[in-house]
Amino acid sequence: MAGDFFYHYIRSMEKVQAYIQENKQRFLDELLELLRIPSVSADPAYKKDVLNTAEKVAAFLQNAGADNVELCPTDGYPIVYGEKLIDPSKPTVLVYGHYDVQPPDPLDLWTSPPFEPVIKKTDIHPEGAIFARGACDDKGQMFMHVKAFEAMWKSGELPCNVKFMIEGEEEVGSNNLGPFCIANKERLKADVVLISDTSMIANDTPSIDCGLRGLSYIEVEVTGPNRDLHSGVYGGAVYNPINALAKMIAGMHDENNHITIPGFYNDVVELSSEERTELNKAPFDEEAYKKDLNIDAVHGEKGYTTLERTGTRPTLDCNGIWGGYIGEGAKTVLPSKAFAKISMRLVPNQSSEKITTLFKNYFESVAPKGVKVDVRPHHGGEPVVTPTDSKAYLAASKAMETTFGKKPIPTRGGGSIPIVALFERELGLKSVLMGFGLDSDALHSPNEHYGVFNYFKGIETIPFFHKYFSE
Ligand code: BES
Ligand code: MN
Ligand code: MN
Repeated sequence: MAGDFFYHYIRSMEKVQAYIQENKQRFLDELLELLRIPSVSADPAYKKDVLNTAEKVAAFLQNAGADNVELCPTDGYPIVYGEKLIDPSKPTVLVYGHYDVQPPDPLDLWTSPPFEPVIKKTDIHPEGAIFARGACDDKGQMFMHVKAFEAMWKSGELPCNVKFMIEGEEEVGSNNLGPFCIANKERLKADVVLISDTSMIANDTPSIDCGLRGLSYIEVEVTGPNRDLHSGVYGGAVYNPINALAKMIAGMHDENNHITIPGFYNDVVELSSEERTELNKAPFDEEAYKKDLNIDAVHGEKGYTTLERTGTRPTLDCNGIWGGYIGEGAKTVLPSKAFAKISMRLVPNQSSEKITTLFKNYFESVAPKGVKVDVRPHHGGEPVVTPTDSKAYLAASKAMETTFGKKPIPTRGGGSIPIVALFERELGLKSVLMGFGLDSDALHSPNEHYGVFNYFKGIETIPFFHKYFSE
């Protein structure tokens, strides 16, 4: 019976699936081509490469059959737009993705150069995985949509209208995408936003993220004396800003790992016990998790499971800390300044702006006498929860069920895609987060990779989404 069911749906997208099979090698080669361009949006040294990547994506979209392909200029990197409008009576899917990537450092920890993609087998990816910065986040996942569209269009089985909006500043906060959306409301009219930029549980356990955390990102500067001092001559008499900063950071969690900033939890929506039970039903092996990370214990807010801690609870983490002497050997110095980058992941109904203000007030209030602090907000984003009963979610669920042979589990992702909340607010559009990566694919880390299986599974699944969403 299950076999008949599967056959029925496969058969109905027969030409698309055949096109994919016939063009597999080229689809892979084209992704590798894209991965060879280092589109690091955070570092101005890569400006030319980021722009070249945008042009390459536009060219691929054009060749795939998209109309009105355009590099839309912004105050930052351009947004690649393209569309295929076949019938105004059919629904419209707006595909969002990003062509920029995180910086590749630390370079010495890569086993092959980050922008020279190679396919290597791993325990989790016995069919091979593509190792390169951006392989999973998000070039590989974004490009699945371009190839799935090509397959649908070229085989004459595109069931609906499609619009593409691929940006180049996701990894630096999407600051220019919001204004672009507001200025292009008509052009971006659609029925749903489809995004592949998240993870699933495992290759044999498909899942769909139904939530993303928000973000407040802040840089702090702590200044002690007006210049670096001899740590013997002055040490003991002057507050060392690194010592002060370390103490302030340590004080931001209590013994239960609750965040101590007054009011921090005020707007947090607590999950009902039913919701918590449901969420914790997702398969999760804590021993394997610890083993993978080589840690002897998990750590987090008291009273919550690991899945709840990453999916439904807010956090505060120091992302980087520096100051004083960090060169070779020893230098006895009492530094003038210390710095840290601090991020807070937010959950419904926290507001990034409110939390940033709470942080600033708190940080200034706990600064000890003898140092001055400067709190500089970076970017932020709002948390989202996406519905699990919408036509779009059900289409994604059925699409994954068709190609994996298993119904995907709804989960809550811990990462952030700030623009998703904005799509809802400014365009009135809900998103479906049909991601095909794995958390273990080392996104943002050295040796990022994306399973060849995952790449093709995504390309095969996406056309079913379009089909079911259009029925
Ligand atoms: N694709 C990720 C977000 C993600 C990854 C969500 C895995 C769920 C599972 C995205 O590119 C990302 O890295 N976002 C940043 C936020 C951004 C403002 C820099 C993040 O989450 O740190
Ligand atoms: Mn991403
Ligand atoms: Mn990312």
